[in-house]
Amino acid sequence: MSPEKPSILVTGGAGYIGSHAVLALKQAGYDVVILDNLVYGHRELVEKVLQVELIVGDTGDRPLLDDLFKTRKFEAVMHFSAYAYVGESVTDPAKYYRNNVVGTLTLLEAMLAASINKFVFSSTCATYGVPDILPIPENHPQDPINPYGASKLMVERILSDFDVAYGLKSVRFRYFNAAGANPDGLLGEDHNPETHLIPLILLTALGKRESISIFGTDYDTPDGTCIRDYIHVNDLADAHILGLEYLLKGGDSEVFNLGNGSGFSVREVIAAAETVTELSIPIKECDRRPGDPPVLIGSGEKAKTILGWQPQYPSIQDIVSHAWQWHQKRHQ
Ligand code: UFG
Repeated sequence: MSPEKPSILVTGGAGYIGSHAVLALKQAGYDVVILDNLVYGHRELVEKVLQVELIVGDTGDRPLLDDLFKTRKFEAVMHFSAYAYVGESVTDPAKYYRNNVVGTLTLLEAMLAASINKFVFSSTCATYGVPDILPIPENHPQDPINPYGASKLMVERILSDFDVAYGLKSVRFRYFNAAGANPDGLLGEDHNPETHLIPLILLTALGKRESISIFGTDYDTPDGTCIRDYIHVNDLADAHILGLEYLLKGGDSEVFNLGNGSGFSVREVIAAAETVTELSIPIKECDRRPGDPPVLIGSGEKAKTILGWQPQYPSIQDIVSHAWQWHQKRHQ
């Protein structure tokens, strides 16, 4: 490990995408400290697999942040911690605005007080709402249709204003559908409750659930089911390293989509899982889930051009196969 690489604070590093980024940072030689309140994060993962320092606390806890920034020097912050259940954000928006917006604002103010001015932010394609153009470019209008997307858009706005006023430099990544797992089987997706399509399909394949519900079969898509752009979590992690290094080299604030530019329907994902698992997966056709745009596909061209990002696992088979390895191990 190179001793010259700076220290990075990773909020939400005990969660799904954050943990993959922490591993990538460690492998690239960075010194990493995780701040995670462990509401959804996993202590065991940090202690056994990531083996980096874990501080248990909230991004909204200003005294904790001030203490931390007094005792440790960080060159940049990567901010993954957020609530991310779209449905819950509709029924309990206060929880989302308090944590995702107020918590982030507190973190940013504490960073500025400690003269830390580089920030990598997990935003989302949910900030676009229902798109007019596919694949969605970064300059597409942002008009979120749920409080989760709105909370992320508010932070994007705060970041633009903080750059102008305080010189805070940020890279904002708008993820499409994060999926898959570390190819070596070290990390994976472990939400509680689980609401995401690929893990639910695989839990059905493992016999932990009776069937996979298909939410809507009457969309205006070739097979009537929703289409999403699934992006491998390791490819997201790689983009974060590139985004961080871009800022460390003095790059200006930027926003990037992280998507593969190709979409798969719910039925196509189930078919891919049947191929990977060599099992027949029972389905149940259900009504549409409120708040689901029919098609979300993102152009990742800007990240490729400016950051040199090159997704390693764009194939849905690889994404599902790595998730399957993880789920088999996790539930054996
Ligand atoms: N779906 C089903 N059955 C299920 C679960 C999901 O048919 O049991 C469908 C959904 O309707 C959707 C697709 O599968 O069409 C993907 O659903 P996910 O719940 O896996 O992912 P989402 O697209 O809803 O959400 C993800 C992230 C959010 C992010 C959003 C942006 O979880 O954080 O992408 O669209 F905001």
